[in-house]
Amino acid sequence: MIKKFDVVIVGAGGAGLRAAVEIPDEYSCAVISKVFPTRSHTGTAQGGVCAALSNMEDDSWENHAFDTVKGSDYLGDQDSIEVMCKDAIRAIMELEHMGMPFSRNEDGKIAQRQFGGHTKPADMNDPYGKRVSVKRACYSADRTGHVMLQTLYENSIKNQVTFFSEYFVTELLMEDGVCKGVVAFDIATSELHIFQAKAVLIATGGYGRVFRITSNSHAGTGDGMALVYKAGLPLEDMEFFQFHPTGLWKLGILVSEAARGEGGILKNKDGERFMIRYAPTVMDLAPRDMVSRAIITEIREGRGIRGSDGTDYVLLDLTHLGKEVIDDKLPEITGFARTYLGVEPTTDPIPIQPTAHYAMGGIPTNVNCEVLLNEDGDIVRGLYAAGECACVSVHGGNRLGTNSLLDLVVFGRRGGKAIHEFLKTASFGELNEHAGRDTNETIKNLMDSNGNEKISNIRTELQNSMMEDCGVFRTDEGLRKMISKLKELRERYKNIAVQDKSRVFNTDLVEALELENLLLTAEATVYGAYARHESRGAHTREDFPVRDDQNWMKHTFAFRKEEQDPELKFKPVVVTRYQPMERKY
Ligand code: FUM
Repeated sequence: MIKKFDVVIVGAGGAGLRAAVEIPDEYSCAVISKVFPTRSHTGTAQGGVCAALSNMEDDSWENHAFDTVKGSDYLGDQDSIEVMCKDAIRAIMELEHMGMPFSRNEDGKIAQRQFGGHTKPADMNDPYGKRVSVKRACYSADRTGHVMLQTLYENSIKNQVTFFSEYFVTELLMEDGVCKGVVAFDIATSELHIFQAKAVLIATGGYGRVFRITSNSHAGTGDGMALVYKAGLPLEDMEFFQFHPTGLWKLGILVSEAARGEGGILKNKDGERFMIRYAPTVMDLAPRDMVSRAIITEIREGRGIRGSDGTDYVLLDLTHLGKEVIDDKLPEITGFARTYLGVEPTTDPIPIQPTAHYAMGGIPTNVNCEVLLNEDGDIVRGLYAAGECACVSVHGGNRLGTNSLLDLVVFGRRGGKAIHEFLKTASFGELNEHAGRDTNETIKNLMDSNGNEKISNIRTELQNSMMEDCGVFRTDEGLRKMISKLKELRERYKNIAVQDKSRVFNTDLVEALELENLLLTAEATVYGAYARHESRGAHTREDFPVRDDQNWMKHTFAFRKEEQDPELKFKPVVVTRYQPMERKY
């Protein structure tokens, strides 16, 4: 069945919906989503969205840009970072005017809180000297992503967007370097649909489900990234995957950095505030890569706490904040601690461990969200990407907390605007008569398969190995092991069985397709990590412990080669005003 829309947006999280809001009424716009839109992963973002509003203290977009560049360990493209940090202030006002209910100060202005790596100079006359934490994160208690998603959903309904919820996109329709639409199947009926479009925007979020312990929802299987990679287009900087320091122990559910922004303290088994040894100036509010490494180091050196199941954790102490602050500002995460671990955060510290949280890499784009064809910056006509699945490279090697929600709204809007411009002259291309045939075959083969490999076994082995060999700390030996594991899992994937043979809500089939996407995104991640002989941001090689600006101030572009190792190419980092410096906090 062929459906025609001027624009097709794949993914209904913050970036997809913000782009949809930007498409004027005279153009038809479809949003296709694997889950119901308000269940998108944006809804789980907790602590805030940052902008240098100066509502609580003096701040500037330049402070924000410098922090973002430094936080990225100098891998972020500085032109993109400037665009984002300058536009942040307008973006927050716009959300407020759309109806987003921010928490407030006494004076009625939007409240702001501290977050890791967000600083300002201690002495304004010495902009690159000692820095202190600054209140830059705008928030709605600890449900910021939830209220943002609801606000954007309401606004996209107002904007006459057509939603296709619980549709799974399987294929990009690409011909001669032009994107002409997508193929999707309706999960409720297994019916295939061809969506013909003048422009397609991918906004499908991340792939945290490739790791065992993750804050990502079950939907975070890298579907959009895999679509692009399978189409022969590159993925950028996939080796940079962020572990958030505070996931709920064993479960990985996010315990917002807002907890530390409000004064929470990390402690080891001796009750020591250990961050004083790793980041003496900002301590618990150091960037995430540093805090995650510190926690794992504490555990490795025997200062963690061993749980009854043999896994280790450290403690996040909020007890000194008092019940009023906890109930008012951190109701969601403290509720999780009570529900899932039976811990009362007003009287006892919360057991936490680092959790796979965010992909800094993804589908390479320029600042107008046009997808890049190659490392030279050529673009794919009609194809756009925004949000976590994209890499415009504002986060480089390590994202600062609250820059993610900002990225969604700034680049979602820019993508929508760029598409609007494009639509003024674009027309529907001819579709190949075989459009949809590949997906049809893939699904038929999966449904007919009588293999003896269980989807869940392959997925679990992938998640465990990624955690072990491609997690916070990496080595040559571990990554080699991971590469052979991936080869083995890919072979075994050919022999999987989809046990549910029905056509109605076949989640077994969905999981089979998702597993392929996880294997593909893992491949780009692992080969990038293996090749990058340095430590930068979230990519820590124990065998190459130092950042190497001489050889590695460059982005990795991974191209898939069927049945072979991916090909890696490189693109230089854009440096505008901030020369690389040692990264100390
Ligand atoms: O800790 C948090 O609330 C997460 C925020 C983020 O990833 O930006």
